[in-house]
Amino acid sequence: MHIDPLEKKWAQISLGICALFVGIIMLDALFHSVNAPSNVETINSATLHLSEEFAEDNLGVEVDDDGNIIVRMVAGRYSFFPKKITVPADTKITFRWVSIDVVHGVHIPMTNMSTMIIPGFVAEVESSFPKPGDYPVLCNEYCGLGHDHMWSKIDVLEKDKWRALQTSSKGVAK
Ligand code: CUA
Repeated sequence: MHIDPLEKKWAQISLGICALFVGIIMLDALFHSVNAPSNVETINSATLHLSEEFAEDNLGVEVDDDGNIIVRMVAGRYSFFPKKITVPADTKITFRWVSIDVVHGVHIPMTNMSTMIIPGFVAEVESSFPKPGDYPVLCNEYCGLGHDHMWSKIDVLEKDKWRALQTSSKGVAK
């Protein structure tokens, strides 16, 4: 079979470009922890509020017996609940996100937080906040007319300040 040399050259260039892109993606996956969510955990979105874990009283920040910080958040048109939480800076935090209605996304600038929140699944992402301040929590999947207004806030305090706040509120309220 005859292949025109010029055609052959173009075919080689196209394949070369494909190989280059695949290579870049693989390197990124290896060195920058760019990966698909691996936590496949299902939950019934229609009965979230009756579930143990995502009942209203259990949302927000929880510190378990080992001192791990877990944050449970619910996304629903058009906000993230609770509206505002307070966490320490420079500390590993496990976020667990669920949706009560449609597909939402969550993006927190300056952190690695960027994931879809799909009804029926728990999106678990480990994250940390580099320094104290107010961090916006933005929806980045189109979810309806109010999508542009779907955001909330995370208040990040210095570790010591946050810990002091925790101890002072212990025993008073959850
Ligand atoms: Cu929720 Cu866009």
